[in-house]
Amino acid sequence: MAFSLPPLPYSHNALAAQSMCQETLELHHDKHHNAYVTALNGLIESKGLAGKSLEQICAEAGKAGAEGAPVLNQAGQHYNHILFWQVMSPSGGGDKLPARLAAKIDQDLGGLAQFKEAFKQAGVTQFGSGWAWLIIGTDGKLKVTKTANGANPISTGEGQPILGADVWEHAYYLDFRNVRPGYLDNFLNKLVDWSVVDSLLAEGGLKSGQSA
Ligand SMILES: [Fe+2]
Repeated sequence: MAFSLPPLPYSHNALAAQSMCQETLELHHDKHHNAYVTALNGLIESKGLAGKSLEQICAEAGKAGAEGAPVLNQAGQHYNHILFWQVMSPSGGGDKLPARLAAKIDQDLGGLAQFKEAFKQAGVTQFGSGWAWLIIGTDGKLKVTKTANGANPISTGEGQPILGADVWEHAYYLDFRNVRPGYLDNFLNKLVDWSVVDSLLAEGGLKSGQSA
């Protein structure tokens, strides 16, 4: 087997009215994400990845520290982008969350407004490239966190991601130039498909279905 680039779950111009333009999605999905998949497939043999799931590779590469970085850079980014495309939709946005997700956010994070502020801060304060996350922590509670470059909460051992915002410049520069806080506000208020996040909560995080 080999890793593959899943198609976008919507057309390339589907999010244009929500400030993620066609060119952003063409470059981000078809070029950037595809490059991670190609590079990861090129490492399967030399790094002994055959037969392993994408999640297993992320966890093992994270545990290996600096030695695992070349694999984690590609494997993490493949996993992270699979999640990223799924949690946005043309009908996303708004503050009406499914009841189960809303109750969990209220209980663990103090409510939707506090969650959004914490998530935005995680993304804004991630110096350089990386990701902001909403995860199911190892204690079962929701938690907001951030990671650098291609890392993710599986590689750091923090938990299972159910929402992720890409804060690499390639995610927002065409639409928001250098204004990362504006991109994150837009992501949280216009793009997130809360029904998908709720499903991922019920499933205990994203299962990519991908393996080497
Ligand atoms: Fe990206």
